[in-house]
Amino acid sequence: MVVSVRDTDWDGVRLHVVTGKGGTGKTTVAAALALALACDGRRVLLMEVEGRQGIAQLFDVPPLPYEERRVAVAPAQDGRPGGDVFALAVDPQSAMIDYLEMFYNLRQAGRALTKLGVLDFATTIAPGLSDVLLTGKAAEAVRRKSGGSPVYGAVVMDAPPTGRIGRFLNVTSEVSGLAKVGPIRGHADTVQNVIRSPQTVVHFVTLLEEMPVQETLDGIAELREISAGEIRPGGIFVNMTRPGAAELADRGDGDRQADMLSLALKAAGLGDDPDLAADLAAELSDEERTARAQQAQRRLLDAPGQPCYELPLISDGIDLAGLYRLAAELRGQGAA
Ligand SMILES: Nc1ncnc2c1ncn2[C@@H]1O[C@H](COP(=O)(O)OP(=O)(O)O)[C@@H](O)[C@H]1O
Ligand SMILES: [Mg+2]
Repeated sequence: MVVSVRDTDWDGVRLHVVTGKGGTGKTTVAAALALALACDGRRVLLMEVEGRQGIAQLFDVPPLPYEERRVAVAPAQDGRPGGDVFALAVDPQSAMIDYLEMFYNLRQAGRALTKLGVLDFATTIAPGLSDVLLTGKAAEAVRRKSGGSPVYGAVVMDAPPTGRIGRFLNVTSEVSGLAKVGPIRGHADTVQNVIRSPQTVVHFVTLLEEMPVQETLDGIAELREISAGEIRPGGIFVNMTRPGAAELADRGDGDRQADMLSLALKAAGLGDDPDLAADLAAELSDEERTARAQQAQRRLLDAPGQPCYELPLISDGIDLAGLYRLAAELRGQGAA
C-alpha cells in the first residue's frame, strides 16, 4: 500500500513509548496516538505491558489474549480508508515462551516450564529479565517483516509509569549482572539497538498539576542522563485541559470582577442579593487561581524543549468517539 508522507513531529519514528504518572491518561493517550498514527492507512500495534487489560476496557472488547487482535479502524482520511489498530497485552511469561520459541524453537519446553512455575520464578527473581522480554516484544514487532516490508507502520507502547521508565528501558544495564554473554545478552543488545535509535521516542503524559509536571521534567532528565541522550524524549501530552483556561488565567483582579459582577447582576434584575454576587465572585476567583496555577505549570513544561500537545477533557467520558476526537486533536497538532 502506498502511504502518503505527511509532515509530523515524529516522522521516521516506529516505536512510540508512552509513559506518565499513573492516572494522567497514559492508556487513553497511547490509544488515541495509535489511532492517529493509523489515519494514514498504516497498520499500528498498541501494546500494554502491565497486565491491567486497560486497552481491552477502553475499546470495550474481551480481555486480550497473548495474541495481536484488531481492536479498531482509524477514521478515513481524505477519502482513503484508515488503517487497522491491533492490540496486544504482553506479560513476561508469554514473552519468555515466545523468546524460547524464536531462539530455540522451544515452545513446548516453555509451556512445561510455565507449568512448573519456573518462568514465574525466573521473571520474579530477575525483574530486569522481565523488562527485556517486554521491551523485546516491542522491538520484535517493530522489526517484523512480511514479504520484505514491515508488518506494522508503528508500534505504540502503553509503558510503565514515569517512576519506572528509566529502569524499564535501560535493559542492557539491568541484565548485565544477569548475563554477560549468551543469548539473553545478545537479545538485550538487539533490543537496546532499537530503543536507542532515532526510531524510538518516549512520550510523557501529564496534567497541569505540580506532581505529574515534576515527574515529567524528572523523567525527561533521567532518560537523557542514563542513556547519554540515546534514549530520546518525545512529546509532552498535556491531558484533560479545559477550554478557556488560559483566558481565565489572564483576566483582571478579583475585586474589579466582583464589582462588574454585581453591576451585571443588577442589570439582570438580580442585584438585590449581595451574597449572591459575593458567592459568584468567590467561585470565579477560585477558578482563576486554578487556571493561573495551571498556566504556571504549563510554562514549566516548555523548559525541556520538547513539543507539547494539549488534549481536551472529554466531559462525557472516553469511548471510541472520544478516542477519535483525541486522535483528531493529535493529528491537528502534528503529533501524528
Ligand atoms: N482527555 C480525557 N478526557 C476525559 N477523561 C479522560 C481523558 N483522558 C483520560 N481520561 C479518563 O481518566 C481515567 C484515567 O485514564 P487512563 O488512561 O486509564 O490513565 P492511566 O493509564 O494513566 O492510569 C480514565 O477513566 C479515563 O477514561
Ligand atoms: Mg493505564
